[in-house]
Amino acid sequence: MSAKLIKGTEIREQILAEIAGEVSQLKEKHGVVPGLVTILVGQNPASISYVTLKIQTAERLGFKEVQDNQPDTLSEKDLLALIDKYNKDDSIHGILVQLPLPKHVDEKKVLNAIDPDKDVDGFHPVNVGRLMIGGAEVKFPPCTPAGIQELIVRSGVETNGAEVVVVGRSNIVGKPIANMMFQKGRGANSTVTVVHTATKDLAAHCKRADILIVAAGVPDLVKPEWIKPGACVIDVGVNRVGEKISKKTGKKIAILKGDVDFDAAKEIAGFITPVPGGVGPMTITMLMKNTLKSLYASQLAVTPESVSCHRTIRFFWSVGTIPSSILSGVGEVELLPRRKDSP
Ligand code: GUN
Repeated sequence: MSAKLIKGTEIREQILAEIAGEVSQLKEKHGVVPGLVTILVGQNPASISYVTLKIQTAERLGFKEVQDNQPDTLSEKDLLALIDKYNKDDSIHGILVQLPLPKHVDEKKVLNAIDPDKDVDGFHPVNVGRLMIGGAEVKFPPCTPAGIQELIVRSGVETNGAEVVVVGRSNIVGKPIANMMFQKGRGANSTVTVVHTATKDLAAHCKRADILIVAAGVPDLVKPEWIKPGACVIDVGVNRVGEKISKKTGKKIAILKGDVDFDAAKEIAGFITPVPGGVGPMTITMLMKNTLKSLYASQLAVTPESVSCHRTIRFFWSVGTIPSSILSGVGEVELLPRRKDSP
């Protein structure tokens, strides 16, 4: 194997350790912790396992974690009322409504009801707009794309001026990651091409990529001859192609395959993510990071000069700076030193 393996499981542990350190300091110095509520409507088995992992991670980090399980008979009106309750709860900084929702509920209406300043999934149209504007406007980058950007940055892959090709144009991965990669800032500033089902010559576009991000949902779509030697290949695909018995638990588990022919691609690429263990572990990690950011943001007051090039940011706690680990990855809030005359 010539490619360097980008291990999401290891990078997850680095980031979670940074977040846990922040949380324990915040608790000790200011008596606050990030609060995350996960609303699960119904009993979808995949949703239950996602949600369980989210809760375990939040608890491990010392967050306040509220698990709100509701029956699948819950009316849309009652779900909207529940969201409104958490929108008004100052101890909750992040609200996540687990998708998919039962058919009688309008998913769009529900996502739009979440306060954009607590929308740690980054799915609310306001946050999609903020992401499009970029820079300091970005509040909650959606978790999977944010995780991809962290993997790229922490692996030392150069993005400045790089040719990035994104395969897939979903709202959750393709569109946002394309947008993030062409913005100005760290882990970005790239030239981006998005290819999709109507693209005439997928291979030709992929071959030009210094960074190839594949989120198509088609097992082994990307062949080794589509990869530029030395390129960084990020495989977002998680395709169930069969079942096997786990050696650890003796239980039946899914056999997963990515969108890239990994065994062949790893001989050509410079960097590559495995499936599982690459992008997957990053989604919940970035959800935790967004929830911590939301707590910080709830304690920030931006002075009116924020509209000018000299932004001054005042903290209610006067902690001085937001730790760079919380802001790393995307070109987000740029903190300037406190001015003497700032309130
Ligand atoms: N269902 C599967 N993945 C996700 C996710 O990232 N966020 C939400 N809200 N629901 C999901």
